Amino acid sequence: MKFIFLCISSLFAAEALASSFARASFKPTHRSVQANHAGRSALTKRDSSPLCSSTAPVKPKMFIISMFSSEADIWYEDTTLNLYANNVTVPGFSSLFPDAHCTASGEVCQMTTGEGEINAAGSVLALWLSGCFDLTSTYFMIAGISGGNPHRVTTGSVTFARYAVQVGLQEEFDHFQTPSNATSGYYPQGAYYPDEASSEDYPGSLYGTEVYEVNENLRDRAYYLASLATLNDTDAAMSYRAKYGYSPANQPPSVVKCDSATSDQYWSGSVLGDAFGNYTSLLTNGSGIYCGTQQEDNATLESLLRGAILGKLDYSRIIIMRTISDFDRAPPGETEVYHLLYAEQEGFVPSIQNIHNAGIEIVKDVMMYWNGTYDKGLTPGNYIGDVFNSLPGPISPDIGNEANYIN
Ligand SMILES: *[C@@H]1O[C@H](CO)[C@@H](O)[C@H](O)[C@H]1NC(C)=O
Ligand SMILES: *[C@@H]1O[C@H](CO)[C@@H](O)[C@H](O)[C@H]1NC(C)=O
Ligand SMILES: *[C@@H]1O[C@H](CO)[C@@H](O)[C@H](O)[C@H]1NC(C)=O
Ligand SMILES: *[C@@H]1O[C@H](CO)[C@@H](O)[C@H](O)[C@H]1NC(C)=O
Ligand SMILES: *[C@@H]1O[C@H](CO)[C@@H](O)[C@H](O)[C@H]1NC(C)=O
Ligand SMILES: *[C@@H]1O[C@H](CO)[C@@H](O)[C@H](O)[C@H]1NC(C)=O
Ligand SMILES: *[C@@H]1O[C@H](CO)[C@@H](O)[C@H](O)[C@H]1NC(C)=O
Repeated sequence: MKFIFLCISSLFAAEALASSFARASFKPTHRSVQANHAGRSALTKRDSSPLCSSTAPVKPKMFIISMFSSEADIWYEDTTLNLYANNVTVPGFSSLFPDAHCTASGEVCQMTTGEGEINAAGSVLALWLSGCFDLTSTYFMIAGISGGNPHRVTTGSVTFARYAVQVGLQEEFDHFQTPSNATSGYYPQGAYYPDEASSEDYPGSLYGTEVYEVNENLRDRAYYLASLATLNDTDAAMSYRAKYGYSPANQPPSVVKCDSATSDQYWSGSVLGDAFGNYTSLLTNGSGIYCGTQQEDNATLESLLRGAILGKLDYSRIIIMRTISDFDRAPPGETEVYHLLYAEQEGFVPSIQNIHNAGIEIVKDVMMYWNGTYDKGLTPGNYIGDVFNSLPGPISPDIGNEANYIN
C-alpha cells in the first residue's frame, strides 16, 4: 500500500479515518510503528505450527490479496460473503496476519500480506509453498490502495494494470550530489544519466523483478465489471481534488486501465513522478502508463511467478486492482512538502470503499460464470510473465532484452 496513515487506520478503523483527523498532528513513521505494536498485541497469540490449521486443501476460485488491515476489513464487513466462516492458519504468513479467511464453501479466500515488498514477497511465497491450498485454478486479485498520478487518475478511482514496474531498483544520488544537468537523482542500473525514456537508458543489468506483465484479456473483463459498479465519493475528497484545476484529477472517480509502480520508498512530488513515469515507459518498451504508486505489487508478482513456474498456480489468472487514496504530487500552488506531510487529501475513505464496490462485481462474475468460462480460463492475447521470459508461453515477450531470456 502507499498511504502514509495506513497503520493508524488499521488501529483506529474506518470511523476514525472518516472523521477529518489532522494529518499534521501525527508524525507518520513513528506513529506507524506504535500502531503496529498495538495491532500486534490485539491479536490472539498463536503457535508457530508448521502445519495448516485445516487438513483438507481448500480449492478457491478467487483469492483476494490485501496488504494491510483497512484493505482487508472492507471485505470482512461483507456479511453476505462471510469470509470469517473458514479460517486457515498458514505457516509462513506475517505474524500480524496469520490466517487466510475463506467462505464456508472455500470458493472465495482472502489473505493480508503485510506492507512493503519484503512482506508481500514472503507472504505470497508462503501461500503456495504451504500446501494449504490447491491454487491450480485460482484467480488472484491484488486489491489495494495506491497513490495516483493526477494526470491519469483521481482519488477514489479504480485502476487495473497490465504492467507492474519496480521503480526503486535503480542507482540513486542524494540531491546535493546529483549532477546539475540531471533531471532526477535516479539512474537506471548501468546508465550514465537519469532515464528520459530513451533506449540508451535501458538498464544494463536486470535482476528480473523490474517489470511484470499480466493477462490483458482478464484485465479488460475486470475493467468492464468494475465499470458497472457505483463508485463511492465524499465531499472531503472532492474539495481537495478541485485544487488541481485539471482533468482527470478534478473529476469524479472512475475506472481506468493504467499501470502501477512499486517501491518500498514512499516517493512524492512531480520530479520523481515524472522520473518514474519515464522509467515505467522505458521498462515496458513504451507501452506502460504510469498512474499508480504502491509498495508491493512486483514482489507479489515475483512470488506468484515462482509458483507458476512449478505449476502450483496459473499466471494468466492474476488481476491487479489498485484504487487511488492520494495524489503522487501536489496541486498547483502548493508545495510538495505541504502536500505529502500536512495536507488532508481525504481520498482514503472512498479508495477503501471502492475496493469492495468494484471488487465484488469481479468476485460475483467469477462465481456466476465459473462453469464454461473461468474454469477454462481467459486465454491471454499478450505476453505474460517477467523480463527474463521465465515462464514459457506461446507469445514471445514484448519486454526485457533477448540476451537475458531464460526460455
Ligand atoms: C475467523 O477469524 C475471525 C477473526 O479472527 C473471527 O472473528 C471468527 O470468529 C473466526 N471464525 C471461525 C469460524 O472461527
Ligand atoms: C512491477 O510489476 C509491474 C506489474 O507487472 C510491472 O509493470 C512493472 O514493470 C514492475 N516494475 C518493476 C520496477 O519491477
Ligand atoms: C551532464 O554533465 C556531465 C559532466 O558534468 C557530462 O559528462 C554529461 O555529458 C552531461 N549530460 C548531459 C545529458 O548533458
Ligand atoms: C522524462 O522524459 C522526458 C522526455 O523524454 C524528459 O524531458 C524529462 O526531463 C524526463 N523527466 C525526468 C524527471 O527524468
Ligand atoms: C525493449 O527496449 C530495449 C531498449 O530499447 C531493447 O534493448 C529491448 O530489446 C526491447 N525489448 C523488446 C522485447 O522489444
Ligand atoms: C462512501 O463511503 C463512506 C464510508 O463507507 C460512507 O460513509 C459514505 O456514505 C459513502 N458515500 C456514498 C456517496 O456512497
Ligand atoms: C457448475 O458445475 C457444477 C458441476 O460440475 C455444478 O455442481 C454447479 O452447480 C455449477 N455451477 C453453476 C453456477 O452452474
